[in-house]
Amino acid sequence: MGSSFAFIDFQNRSADDLKLFLLRARELKKQFKPQSPFTIQGTCFLMFFEPSTRTKFSFETAALRAGYQPLSFTPGMTSVEKGETLLDSLLNLEAYNPHFFVIRCGNEYDLQQVQNQIETPILNAGWGIYGHPTQALLDVMTIEDTLGGLRGKKILFVGDFAFSRVFASHIDLARILGYEIALCGPPAFMNENTRVSAASQGIKKFTSLEEGTEWADAICFLRVQLERHAEKKAFRDLTQEQYHQQFGASEKWLAKLAPEKRIMHPGPVNEGIEICRAAMSDPRSLILEQTRNGVFIREALIRACLGGGSK
Ligand code: NCD
Repeated sequence: MGSSFAFIDFQNRSADDLKLFLLRARELKKQFKPQSPFTIQGTCFLMFFEPSTRTKFSFETAALRAGYQPLSFTPGMTSVEKGETLLDSLLNLEAYNPHFFVIRCGNEYDLQQVQNQIETPILNAGWGIYGHPTQALLDVMTIEDTLGGLRGKKILFVGDFAFSRVFASHIDLARILGYEIALCGPPAFMNENTRVSAASQGIKKFTSLEEGTEWADAICFLRVQLERHAEKKAFRDLTQEQYHQQFGASEKWLAKLAPEKRIMHPGPVNEGIEICRAAMSDPRSLILEQTRNGVFIREALIRACLGGGSK
């Protein structure tokens, strides 16, 4: 059981494999024509146990372009509602011969463990606080293409890294591909005892956004994960406005930002907390380019894992 095509994290992925894969995403982007017809040769299930806009619809679009009809599994309207487990749901859906599953879920599920009990590959679309590998890859594609290279480039992650699966995946990917990462955020996040903040021990930390910005080539703001903080601990020591002024892409911060620096955010944003509207639409912002690249990264992943699809 298990599948060698699963994509749950970056374990056992070499830099060369990942570079090839980024190359493929770039080719797909270059060749893309909006009017291309799809040749459907199979199906896949998209199972999102947590809300999603970018990841869900980019995976859906990518699956279609690669030749797989996405079938949406909406937990509230399935037997999950009657108490069926994730494993039982997967075992039963496997009976319909899908080519892969795309799953987003919380910490309560163990994607690796369920993968060991089924044959159809699982592609991770964001798993609790553990990882979001396709987001890290699309961030890397965006940086590499806009800053002309990746090796030695410096990305500062600002905000809620304690609960960020995006940041968790960057810890692994930065090590494999050779870019530098650093952190900046309020002490409340630094001291959160999560797997993510534990794994970030040894990573450079800035308490001042100004100093961090000076160091970085790109500054990636992370959403404050209000839903993952018990009792809204995020704003225990700071008000939202104080947070915005100290750790947000505020108008004041934007006015001082050097022209060669780039602004990133995986989305969705808490406008007025980690970023202001002007920073989102600033010419130095790569936010929509990140979104655009998401579909090509996911299409490249599907094609690489499934070995084909329509050309
Ligand atoms: C991220 C996620 O879900 O982990 N969003 C995304 O996939 N673009 C980041 C977040 O929710 O803060």
